[in-house]
Amino acid sequence: MRIAQTKTDLREALEELNRPIGLVPTMGNLHQGHLDLMQWSTRKTASTIATIFVNPLQFSPTEDFSSYPRMLAEDAKKLESNGVDLLFAPSDEEMYPHGKETHTNVTVPEITATLCGQSRPTHFAGVTTVVTKLFHLCQPDMAFFGEKDWQQLAVIKRMTQELDFPLEIEGVPTTRHSDGLAMSSRNQYLSEEERQIAPKLFETLRHLANKCFTLNVDFRELETAGAKQLEDLGFRPDYVAIRDENTLQPTTKFTHDLRVFGAAYLGKARLIDNVSVNLGD
Ligand code: PAF
Repeated sequence: MRIAQTKTDLREALEELNRPIGLVPTMGNLHQGHLDLMQWSTRKTASTIATIFVNPLQFSPTEDFSSYPRMLAEDAKKLESNGVDLLFAPSDEEMYPHGKETHTNVTVPEITATLCGQSRPTHFAGVTTVVTKLFHLCQPDMAFFGEKDWQQLAVIKRMTQELDFPLEIEGVPTTRHSDGLAMSSRNQYLSEEERQIAPKLFETLRHLANKCFTLNVDFRELETAGAKQLEDLGFRPDYVAIRDENTLQPTTKFTHDLRVFGAAYLGKARLIDNVSVNLGD
């Protein structure tokens, strides 16, 4: 596996890759969920590029940018043994040479204003800006994102379509621990006791998804009950929301594309998850 740390190295390395090229953007600190994304890409494309970049633009000043674990050497080994052809791991200066404060931003309206966008108002502009740059730099034919971050996936799909990027975005099912907890880099902020409680986020969302089938059900009442349940379990809920999975807007009707979304703090960790109503996940 080749490693490029500058745009010039990346451009050179791209010449040697066969198409179609798959791209898997990450912030490193890789777990099995990331490696499943790599395997998804290596199965579907001829060459896979992984990127590792802890993107300062998507963290607010009160979030964990400086403490976010950085372990490039270990991550590189994992990528190599999972069939990745090229790793792009640029520095902040390489990505934002004029500084991050005045950098040109790419913003997607509307679907970024809801769910996680309400408590993290600058987060998605940081994501769409860096992903736009990675698409331009790596020129992939396909890009793979995890369904755990469903809103991120929906935002990137919308941006790709509306800005006419010539590539296909594919969502990859969430990788879970055996007790149901979605794999996430932020799980490592959980204490032992919190780790026992954490899978109950998924359980609660799954329970709500099943309740959506009840005759004459009121989704708003279900959301309130779900948030209350999380609170009783020891979480600090940010939101519990039953939404159309494409527009992410509230709905009162049972449709084919319903999904239950949840975000909640447990100690220092902010956990997010989502469950399809129709498949029951
Ligand atoms: O999901 C992530 O790890 C990040 O948001 C991404 C897509 C790599 C952009 O920095």
